[in-house]
Amino acid sequence: MVSTTVARLSSLMTVLATLGLAGAPAALAQLDRSRCADCHFANPYTEPAQQHLHRWSLSPHQRADVGCDSCHRGNPDTFESLQAHRGVLSSFNPSSPVHRTQLPATCGSCHVGPYVNFQASRHHELLGQGDRRVPTCSTCHGSVDGRLLSPQGLERQCAECHGPDGIAPRPGRAADARLLLEGIANVRESLEAARRLIERVRDGDRRRSLEAAYLQAEVPVIEARRAGHRFVFDQLEERLETAQERTAALLSELVNPAP
Ligand code: HEC
Ligand code: HEC
Ligand code: HEC
Ligand code: HEC
Ligand code: HEC
Repeated sequence: MVSTTVARLSSLMTVLATLGLAGAPAALAQLDRSRCADCHFANPYTEPAQQHLHRWSLSPHQRADVGCDSCHRGNPDTFESLQAHRGVLSSFNPSSPVHRTQLPATCGSCHVGPYVNFQASRHHELLGQGDRRVPTCSTCHGSVDGRLLSPQGLERQCAECHGPDGIAPRPGRAADARLLLEGIANVRESLEAARRLIERVRDGDRRRSLEAAYLQAEVPVIEARRAGHRFVFDQLEERLETAQERTAALLSELVNPAP
């Protein structure tokens, strides 16, 4: 019983990994040997980007050991400035990995799911043609912050360009984006409640099977967040409905266990 549940759980994890859904890889977790931040923090008076450093230090990237070289390249093994900056290009240079047109590939090397979907968007197509009007990853997430927008924040972001006074007025898009993100936030709240209840389950077998059900309920939510990067929300409602149904079933099983 235990082993089949575990087998099911681990095969689910394999599926998740194959789909690129098992979270950003802990790639380049090498900050302990990256000298870039050490030197930049050591020289506050000559520092060219104090705000940027501050935001990095508060970001999920800093917490996950994603160092400066992960986005800027260069040689993180040396304190010698010339060597360290070999290959580091200003963000104004179109070949720089942090130029707005290169960010999808740079960020996408770790965040595969959002990147794959972003590549299917009109925004990406226009970005590739050098169109300055369309958003890139940093428009919504900040250059280094890795911040997530609230539903209202996202609506405002879309409306900046697609609102009645924007450069490409399509007011419906902004409202749709808010509704989608509200839906995602609701399911995640219920999932979070379920997760806390599952943690309290003493019986190991039961807990593991509930954990498997939890993962299954979470899949369509993860997919919806990523697929949102196409900015066309047609199939997302179904995904959210599936997630809602699975979460509701999970919560009722937690509250009224089957005999
Ligand atoms: C020995 C200290 C030192 C090290 C090591 C160092 N930096 Fe710098 N960096 C500086 C200073 C000082 C400046 C500003 C003056 C200048 O442009 O040379 C700078 C400038 C920069 C810039 C701005 C370049 C531009 O064209 O505007 C970037 C980006 C950067 N560093 C990233 C990095 C990365 C990534 C690493 C590691 C691979 C790194 N730095 C390692 C001290 C350092
Ligand atoms: C997650 C990616 C990412 C990480 C990590 C990151 N940066 Fe940046 N950085 C950017 C982007 C994108 C820009 C472009 C300007 C902007 O959008 O604000 C930038 C701009 C800069 C600039 C201004 C010069 C320019 O080319 O525009 C400096 C200097 C800099 N970064 C240094 C650093 C240092 C030092 C670290 C490590 C403490 C670091 N960055 C970590 C993405 C990153
Ligand atoms: C127009 C705004 C917008 C742009 C542009 C955008 N995103 Fe997102 N991103 C979002 C929203 C909204 C979410 C969902 C946030 C939530 O669930 O709270 C999200 C979620 C994420 C997440 C967390 C969820 C996950 O699947 O890991 C990552 C990582 C991410 N985006 C990376 C990227 C990358 C990389 C790019 C560029 C290729 C990008 N985003 C472009 C709005 C945007
Ligand atoms: C070297 C790999 C790497 C690169 C490059 C990278 N990230 Fe991340 N990012 C991570 C890791 C690791 C985390 C923390 C774990 C997580 O939340 O997925 C993270 C967290 C995030 C989050 C928060 C996700 C959440 O669910 O809370 C966002 C948003 C994000 N990154 C966007 C970006 C953007 C935009 C860029 C490019 C400017 C970028 N990242 C570049 C590895 C990377
Ligand atoms: C920085 C400006 C900017 C932001 C922010 C922005 N867009 Fe766009 N978007 C554009 C431009 C420019 C176009 C191309 C002109 C057009 O098709 O309206 C476009 C095109 C689109 C298209 C393709 C339309 C088609 O017919 O193929 C969709 C869908 C879209 N945006 C949705 C969104 C959503 C949803 C958001 C918020 C999550 C958003 N956009 C945020 C500038 C932006």
